[in-house]
Amino acid sequence: EADMRADLEKVLIPEEELQAKIRELAAEIDRDYEGRELLLVGVLKGAVMVMADLARALHTPISMDWMAVSSYGSGTKSSGVVRILKDLDADIMGRDVLIVEDIVDSGLTLSWLRSNLESRGPASLEVCTLLRKPDAAKIEVGVRYIGFDIPNEFVIGYGLDYSERYRNLPFVGTLAPHVYGGSGEQEA
Ligand code: PRP
Ligand code: MN
Ligand code: MG
Repeated sequence: EADMRADLEKVLIPEEELQAKIRELAAEIDRDYEGRELLLVGVLKGAVMVMADLARALHTPISMDWMAVSSYGSGTKSSGVVRILKDLDADIMGRDVLIVEDIVDSGLTLSWLRSNLESRGPASLEVCTLLRKPDAAKIEVGVRYIGFDIPNEFVIGYGLDYSERYRNLPFVGTLAPHVYGGSGEQEA
């Protein structure tokens, strides 16, 4: 069966709710950055969908840049040691920077990224994430804009993958355990 929807357990956040939340976040960001110009930094690949929809919902003038990072360490668990696979094209010194993420899980990726970008001297640095899993947090990271807090379940869709699949689902759902053979706890 090639239908990826057959691998779903349930829809956690339907498309309309995601889009409504993104419009809310965009309105909040527009208010906070009034009169300024923003550099959105998307974290490949998961943030692609949020970035595309958030950018289109904003009235604030923006540029887009992208980073690709990968965690070192054994297994699939995020270790907190991060390697840059693709760095920013732009110099962010003196700029207002907003990191855009799909999900903050353990927080290790974002914590590293935040201090890495902070060291480059931006005028301001904030984070916007669509999803956050408070029960999975291993480190506290300052996140200014949060779409939804979700339970510690294996989620896919709207940028989020399992083995690179399911990113193109327009909603966020949970994967049926038979697909990944796991306990339901997501590994980064
Ligand atoms: C996922 C997700 C976040 C990160 C969160 O990315 O998109 O970037 O993990 O995990 P953490 O809070 O535990 O560090 P992943 O490394 O799977 O790469 P991807 O975006 O290409 O899927
Ligand atoms: Mn990611
Ligand atoms: Mg992933």
